[in-house]
Amino acid sequence: MIKIAPSILSADFCNLETEIWRIRSADWVHVDVMDGAFVPNITIGVPVVRSIRNHTDMFLDVHLMIDKPARFVKAFAQAGADMLSIHLEADHPTRIAQALQIMEDCGVKKAVALRPITSPEAILPYLEKLDMVLVMTVEPGFGGQAFMERQLDTIRRVRKLIDQFNPACDLEVDGGINPVTARRVVEAGANVLVAGSSVYGAPDIALAIESLRGAPDGDPARNC
Ligand code: DX5
Ligand code: ZN
Repeated sequence: MIKIAPSILSADFCNLETEIWRIRSADWVHVDVMDGAFVPNITIGVPVVRSIRNHTDMFLDVHLMIDKPARFVKAFAQAGADMLSIHLEADHPTRIAQALQIMEDCGVKKAVALRPITSPEAILPYLEKLDMVLVMTVEPGFGGQAFMERQLDTIRRVRKLIDQFNPACDLEVDGGINPVTARRVVEAGANVLVAGSSVYGAPDIALAIESLRGAPDGDPARNC
């Protein structure tokens, strides 16, 4: 089943409670954490995740775009994240493995994320223990960028590895996802779709979420 995870990076940060309520027909809330070092942008941190947790029961999918994530995974888990994604490029492999172990000890779901430059095979040392792999379809750092076509091949290759070594693992894509690119990434093997600007920028958010799931406007199935 396809899961939709709207990114609150495109929401109004002054009204987060309302902005999360507006995406209640989605499956997960995607929270983009940026440190100004791993990516050239700064967004939100642990206290904001804790506040969000106090105001929603939705699944919190927290994407850590930070250097040396092992330093912070426990704090984000304790703040109420349900899933943490750490970038494979953000530290040495031994420290990535340590961060995943801390996540396991904290009882939070574990994901690794890949920048567009990173080879799909880089997930192999961790794959059997993962709940999800996140394939970036833009350079991490900003919402509203164009989908990178060449990442379709990465998605296909990650899907093959998941099917071979850990079929229960989710495959999430993030960046430039709209109803058109959604179809293409799902065909390539993704099953969790992050979307910021195409959801929050839409006049009808519930319809935008349904369109990402693959039920186009006018589809007779919608009227059943
Ligand atoms: C980018 C973030 C994305 C971003 C996606 O670094 O990880 O989650 O919010 O935004 P759109 O959907 O606008 O590309
Ligand atoms: Zn993200």
